[in-house]
Amino acid sequence: MTEKAQQVYPLAPANGAPRSDEDGLAMEKEAKRKKRVKLAIYIGVFAVFQVIVILVFGMVIMRVHRPKFRVGNLTVQNLAAGTGSFNGSFVAPVRVKNANFGPYKYEATTVFFSYGRDVVGRADVTKSKANFKSTKKIDLEVAVSSSNLTASDPAAVSKLSGELGSGTLTLRIYGNMTGKVELMLIFKKRKSTFMDCTMVINVSAKSVKSLECK
Ligand SMILES: *[C@@H]1O[C@H](CO)[C@@H](O)[C@H](O)[C@H]1NC(C)=O
Ligand SMILES: *[C@@H]1O[C@H](CO)[C@@H](O)[C@H](O)[C@H]1NC(C)=O
Ligand SMILES: *[C@@H]1O[C@H](CO)[C@@H](O)[C@H](O)[C@H]1NC(C)=O
Ligand SMILES: *[C@@H]1O[C@H](CO)[C@@H](O)[C@H](O)[C@H]1NC(C)=O
Ligand SMILES: *[C@@H]1O[C@H](CO)[C@@H](O)[C@H](O)[C@H]1NC(C)=O
Repeated sequence: MTEKAQQVYPLAPANGAPRSDEDGLAMEKEAKRKKRVKLAIYIGVFAVFQVIVILVFGMVIMRVHRPKFRVGNLTVQNLAAGTGSFNGSFVAPVRVKNANFGPYKYEATTVFFSYGRDVVGRADVTKSKANFKSTKKIDLEVAVSSSNLTASDPAAVSKLSGELGSGTLTLRIYGNMTGKVELMLIFKKRKSTFMDCTMVINVSAKSVKSLECK
Protein backbone atom coordinates (compact mmCIF):
# COMPACT_ATOMS: atom_id res chain seq x y z
CA MET A 1 0.00 0.00 0.00
CA THR A 2 2.66 2.52 1.04
CA GLU A 3 4.83 1.31 -1.80
CA LYS A 4 1.94 1.96 -4.20
CA ALA A 5 1.29 5.39 -2.69
CA GLN A 6 4.93 6.26 -3.12
CA GLN A 7 4.75 5.18 -6.70
CA VAL A 8 1.61 7.23 -7.37
CA TYR A 9 2.34 10.50 -5.55
CA PRO A 10 5.49 11.48 -7.35
CA LEU A 11 3.45 11.49 -10.57
CA ALA A 12 0.63 13.58 -9.10
CA PRO A 13 0.78 17.42 -9.49
CA ALA A 14 1.73 19.35 -6.32
CA ASN A 15 -1.27 21.71 -6.45
CA GLY A 16 -3.55 19.62 -4.26
CA ALA A 17 -5.08 17.74 -7.17
CA PRO A 18 -4.53 14.36 -5.45
CA ARG A 19 -7.00 15.41 -2.72
CA SER A 20 -9.72 16.22 -5.24
CA ASP A 21 -8.91 13.00 -7.09
CA GLU A 22 -9.43 11.15 -3.83
CA ASP A 23 -12.74 12.99 -3.34
CA GLY A 24 -13.82 12.10 -6.85
CA LEU A 25 -12.93 8.50 -6.21
CA ALA A 26 -14.92 8.52 -2.95
CA MET A 27 -17.92 10.08 -4.69
CA GLU A 28 -17.70 7.54 -7.45
CA LYS A 29 -17.54 4.78 -4.81
CA GLU A 30 -20.55 6.27 -3.04
CA ALA A 31 -22.49 6.50 -6.31
CA LYS A 32 -21.60 2.88 -7.08
CA ARG A 33 -22.68 1.84 -3.58
CA LYS A 34 -26.01 3.67 -4.02
CA LYS A 35 -26.46 1.99 -7.37
CA ARG A 36 -25.80 -1.41 -5.78
CA VAL A 37 -28.30 -0.66 -2.99
CA LYS A 38 -30.87 0.41 -5.58
CA LEU A 39 -30.25 -2.74 -7.58
CA ALA A 40 -30.55 -4.85 -4.43
CA ILE A 41 -33.88 -3.15 -3.64
CA TYR A 42 -35.11 -3.80 -7.19
CA ILE A 43 -34.08 -7.45 -6.96
CA GLY A 44 -35.73 -7.73 -3.54
CA VAL A 45 -39.00 -6.20 -4.75
CA PHE A 46 -38.95 -8.38 -7.82
CA ALA A 47 -38.30 -11.49 -5.70
CA VAL A 48 -41.21 -10.63 -3.38
CA PHE A 49 -43.41 -10.02 -6.43
CA GLN A 50 -42.35 -13.37 -7.88
CA VAL A 51 -43.15 -15.13 -4.60
CA ILE A 52 -46.61 -13.52 -4.58
CA VAL A 53 -47.18 -14.56 -8.20
CA ILE A 54 -46.10 -18.12 -7.42
CA LEU A 55 -48.28 -18.26 -4.29
CA VAL A 56 -51.34 -16.94 -6.16
CA PHE A 57 -50.63 -19.35 -8.98
CA GLY A 58 -50.28 -22.26 -6.56
CA MET A 59 -53.27 -21.35 -4.43
CA VAL A 60 -55.71 -20.27 -7.11
CA ILE A 61 -54.77 -21.82 -10.42
CA MET A 62 -53.15 -25.08 -9.33
CA ARG A 63 -55.49 -25.85 -6.44
CA VAL A 64 -57.67 -28.85 -7.19
CA HIS A 65 -61.30 -28.51 -6.13
CA ARG A 66 -63.59 -31.49 -5.84
CA PRO A 67 -66.14 -31.22 -8.66
CA LYS A 68 -69.77 -31.25 -7.56
CA PHE A 69 -72.01 -34.04 -8.82
CA ARG A 70 -75.64 -33.09 -8.23
CA VAL A 71 -79.17 -33.62 -9.39
CA GLY A 72 -81.70 -30.81 -9.61
CA ASN A 73 -85.48 -30.98 -9.33
CA LEU A 74 -86.53 -33.62 -11.78
CA THR A 75 -89.44 -33.44 -14.17
CA VAL A 76 -92.02 -36.13 -13.64
CA GLN A 77 -93.19 -37.31 -17.06
CA ASN A 78 -95.39 -40.13 -15.80
CA LEU A 79 -96.14 -41.43 -12.36
CA ALA A 80 -98.74 -44.03 -11.52
CA ALA A 81 -99.15 -45.07 -7.93
CA GLY A 82 -101.25 -47.91 -6.65
CA THR A 83 -101.42 -49.52 -3.24
CA GLY A 84 -97.80 -50.15 -2.37
CA SER A 85 -96.56 -49.88 -5.92
CA PHE A 86 -95.56 -47.26 -8.43
CA ASN A 87 -94.31 -46.85 -11.98
CA GLY A 88 -92.97 -43.73 -13.52
CA SER A 89 -90.55 -41.97 -15.77
CA PHE A 90 -88.53 -38.89 -14.97
CA VAL A 91 -86.06 -36.54 -16.57
CA ALA A 92 -83.39 -35.87 -13.97
CA PRO A 93 -81.16 -32.81 -14.53
CA VAL A 94 -77.73 -34.03 -13.46
CA ARG A 95 -74.96 -31.46 -13.14
CA VAL A 96 -71.19 -31.78 -12.87
CA LYS A 97 -69.89 -28.45 -11.60
CA ASN A 98 -66.19 -27.96 -12.15
CA ALA A 99 -64.56 -25.00 -10.35
CA ASN A 100 -61.06 -25.85 -11.55
CA PHE A 101 -58.84 -23.93 -13.96
CA GLY A 102 -58.90 -26.89 -16.31
CA PRO A 103 -61.28 -29.61 -17.52
CA TYR A 104 -62.57 -32.45 -15.35
CA LYS A 105 -62.59 -35.62 -17.44
CA TYR A 106 -64.84 -38.18 -15.83
CA GLU A 107 -65.48 -41.86 -16.39
CA ALA A 108 -68.84 -43.40 -17.23
CA THR A 109 -70.97 -43.99 -14.17
CA THR A 110 -74.46 -44.93 -13.05
CA VAL A 111 -76.94 -42.89 -11.06
CA PHE A 112 -79.17 -45.04 -8.86
CA PHE A 113 -82.71 -44.29 -7.69
CA SER A 114 -83.76 -46.20 -4.64
CA TYR A 115 -86.63 -46.50 -2.23
CA GLY A 116 -84.94 -47.13 1.09
CA ARG A 117 -82.30 -49.78 0.34
CA ASP A 118 -84.01 -51.04 -2.79
CA VAL A 119 -82.96 -49.84 -6.21
CA VAL A 120 -86.03 -48.86 -8.24
CA GLY A 121 -84.30 -47.34 -11.25
CA ARG A 122 -80.97 -46.49 -12.75
CA ALA A 123 -79.54 -44.29 -15.47
CA ASP A 124 -76.13 -44.25 -17.11
CA VAL A 125 -73.91 -41.21 -17.43
CA THR A 126 -71.54 -41.55 -20.37
CA LYS A 127 -67.86 -40.73 -20.14
CA SER A 128 -67.29 -37.05 -20.86
CA LYS A 129 -65.87 -33.85 -19.39
CA ALA A 130 -66.88 -30.67 -17.63
CA ASN A 131 -64.89 -27.78 -19.08
CA PHE A 132 -62.70 -25.15 -17.40
CA LYS A 133 -64.79 -23.48 -14.66
CA SER A 134 -68.12 -24.64 -16.00
CA THR A 135 -71.01 -26.97 -15.37
CA LYS A 136 -71.74 -29.96 -17.54
CA LYS A 137 -75.48 -30.52 -17.86
CA ILE A 138 -76.82 -33.98 -18.47
CA ASP A 139 -80.53 -34.64 -18.62
CA LEU A 140 -81.00 -38.26 -17.66
CA GLU A 141 -84.12 -40.16 -18.57
CA VAL A 142 -84.99 -42.78 -16.04
CA ALA A 143 -87.77 -45.29 -15.59
CA VAL A 144 -88.64 -46.20 -12.02
CA SER A 145 -90.67 -49.11 -10.82
CA SER A 146 -91.43 -50.72 -7.50
CA SER A 147 -91.67 -54.13 -9.18
CA ASN A 148 -88.33 -55.41 -7.82
CA LEU A 149 -89.01 -54.05 -4.37
CA THR A 150 -92.33 -55.84 -4.16
CA ALA A 151 -90.69 -59.23 -4.24
CA SER A 152 -87.57 -58.58 -2.23
CA ASP A 153 -88.48 -56.32 0.65
CA PRO A 154 -91.89 -56.73 2.36
CA ALA A 155 -91.04 -54.16 5.07
CA ALA A 156 -90.31 -51.57 2.39
CA VAL A 157 -93.58 -52.41 0.64
CA SER A 158 -95.63 -51.70 3.74
CA LYS A 159 -93.71 -48.47 4.31
CA LEU A 160 -94.31 -47.53 0.68
CA SER A 161 -98.05 -48.19 1.02
CA GLY A 162 -98.20 -45.81 3.97
CA GLU A 163 -96.22 -43.11 2.21
CA LEU A 164 -98.14 -43.32 -1.07
CA GLY A 165 -101.35 -43.18 0.98
CA SER A 166 -100.26 -39.80 2.32
CA GLY A 167 -99.49 -38.58 -1.20
CA THR A 168 -95.69 -38.58 -1.33
CA LEU A 169 -92.87 -40.74 -2.61
CA THR A 170 -89.35 -40.36 -1.16
CA LEU A 171 -86.48 -41.47 -3.36
CA ARG A 172 -82.76 -41.46 -2.77
CA ILE A 173 -80.67 -40.55 -5.82
CA TYR A 174 -76.99 -41.42 -5.60
CA GLY A 175 -73.87 -42.30 -7.50
CA ASN A 176 -70.10 -42.03 -7.53
CA MET A 177 -67.98 -40.35 -10.13
CA THR A 178 -64.26 -40.74 -10.79
CA GLY A 179 -62.12 -38.69 -13.09
CA LYS A 180 -59.14 -36.44 -13.54
CA VAL A 181 -58.72 -32.71 -13.27
CA GLU A 182 -56.29 -31.49 -15.91
CA LEU A 183 -54.32 -28.34 -15.14
CA MET A 184 -52.07 -26.37 -17.52
CA LEU A 185 -52.69 -29.12 -20.11
CA ILE A 186 -50.13 -31.40 -18.43
CA PHE A 187 -50.81 -31.86 -14.72
CA LYS A 188 -53.44 -34.48 -14.02
CA LYS A 189 -54.94 -35.09 -10.63
CA ARG A 190 -57.40 -37.89 -9.87
CA LYS A 191 -60.51 -36.59 -8.20
CA SER A 192 -63.63 -38.48 -7.32
CA THR A 193 -66.94 -37.07 -6.27
CA PHE A 194 -70.37 -38.35 -5.36
CA MET A 195 -74.04 -37.54 -5.37
CA ASP A 196 -76.35 -38.46 -2.53
CA CYS A 197 -79.68 -36.70 -2.65
CA THR A 198 -83.07 -37.31 -1.11
CA MET A 199 -86.10 -36.19 -3.06
CA VAL A 200 -89.71 -36.08 -1.93
CA ILE A 201 -92.23 -36.15 -4.77
CA ASN A 202 -95.83 -35.02 -4.48
CA VAL A 203 -97.51 -37.89 -6.31
CA SER A 204 -100.81 -36.22 -7.27
CA ALA A 205 -99.15 -32.95 -8.36
CA LYS A 206 -96.31 -34.92 -10.06
CA SER A 207 -93.86 -32.36 -8.72
CA VAL A 208 -90.83 -32.21 -6.46
CA LYS A 209 -91.75 -31.21 -2.92
CA SER A 210 -88.22 -31.14 -1.52
CA LEU A 211 -84.70 -31.98 -2.53
CA GLU A 212 -81.70 -32.29 -0.26
CA CYS A 213 -78.18 -33.31 -1.16
CA LYS A 214 -75.25 -34.27 1.08
C1 LIG B 1 -86.70 -27.89 -5.91
O1 LIG B 1 -88.07 -27.64 -5.65
C2 LIG B 1 -88.32 -27.27 -4.30
C3 LIG B 1 -89.82 -27.18 -4.11
O2 LIG B 1 -90.42 -26.56 -5.19
C4 LIG B 1 -87.61 -25.96 -4.00
O3 LIG B 1 -87.82 -25.59 -2.68
C5 LIG B 1 -86.12 -26.14 -4.26
O4 LIG B 1 -85.45 -24.92 -4.11
C6 LIG B 1 -85.87 -26.66 -5.67
N1 LIG B 1 -84.47 -27.00 -5.76
C7 LIG B 1 -83.75 -26.77 -6.85
C8 LIG B 1 -82.34 -27.19 -6.81
O5 LIG B 1 -84.21 -26.22 -7.85
C1 LIG C 1 -96.51 -50.87 -12.69
O1 LIG C 1 -96.18 -51.74 -13.77
C2 LIG C 1 -96.37 -53.13 -13.47
C3 LIG C 1 -95.87 -53.94 -14.63
O2 LIG C 1 -95.92 -53.22 -15.82
C4 LIG C 1 -97.83 -53.38 -13.15
O3 LIG C 1 -97.99 -54.74 -12.77
C5 LIG C 1 -98.26 -52.51 -11.98
O4 LIG C 1 -99.64 -52.64 -11.74
C6 LIG C 1 -97.96 -51.06 -12.28
N1 LIG C 1 -98.24 -50.28 -11.08
C7 LIG C 1 -98.89 -49.15 -11.12
C8 LIG C 1 -99.12 -48.47 -9.81
O5 LIG C 1 -99.29 -48.67 -12.14
C1 LIG D 1 -84.95 -55.40 -11.21
O1 LIG D 1 -84.12 -56.54 -11.03
C2 LIG D 1 -83.59 -57.03 -12.25
C3 LIG D 1 -82.86 -58.32 -11.91
O2 LIG D 1 -82.09 -58.18 -10.75
C4 LIG D 1 -82.67 -55.98 -12.86
O3 LIG D 1 -82.12 -56.45 -14.06
C5 LIG D 1 -83.47 -54.72 -13.11
O4 LIG D 1 -82.62 -53.71 -13.60
C6 LIG D 1 -84.14 -54.26 -11.84
N1 LIG D 1 -85.01 -53.15 -12.13
C7 LIG D 1 -84.82 -51.98 -11.62
C8 LIG D 1 -85.83 -50.92 -11.98
O5 LIG D 1 -83.90 -51.70 -10.85
C1 LIG E 1 -69.54 -44.91 -3.71
O1 LIG E 1 -68.32 -44.95 -3.02
C2 LIG E 1 -68.46 -45.26 -1.63
C3 LIG E 1 -67.13 -45.09 -0.97
O2 LIG E 1 -66.09 -45.46 -1.79
C4 LIG E 1 -69.02 -46.68 -1.54
O3 LIG E 1 -69.18 -47.01 -0.18
C5 LIG E 1 -70.36 -46.74 -2.25
O4 LIG E 1 -70.86 -48.05 -2.24
C6 LIG E 1 -70.23 -46.27 -3.67
N1 LIG E 1 -71.56 -46.17 -4.25
C7 LIG E 1 -71.84 -46.56 -5.48
C8 LIG E 1 -73.23 -46.36 -5.93
O5 LIG E 1 -71.01 -47.07 -6.21
C1 LIG F 1 -99.49 -32.08 -3.41
O1 LIG F 1 -99.80 -31.00 -4.26
C2 LIG F 1 -101.18 -30.66 -4.20
C3 LIG F 1 -101.43 -29.61 -5.27
O2 LIG F 1 -100.40 -28.72 -5.37
C4 LIG F 1 -101.53 -30.18 -2.80
O3 LIG F 1 -102.87 -29.83 -2.72
C5 LIG F 1 -101.19 -31.28 -1.81
O4 LIG F 1 -101.40 -30.81 -0.48
C6 LIG F 1 -99.78 -31.75 -1.97
N1 LIG F 1 -99.56 -32.94 -1.13
C7 LIG F 1 -98.53 -33.06 -0.31
C8 LIG F 1 -98.46 -34.32 0.48
O5 LIG F 1 -97.67 -32.21 -0.19
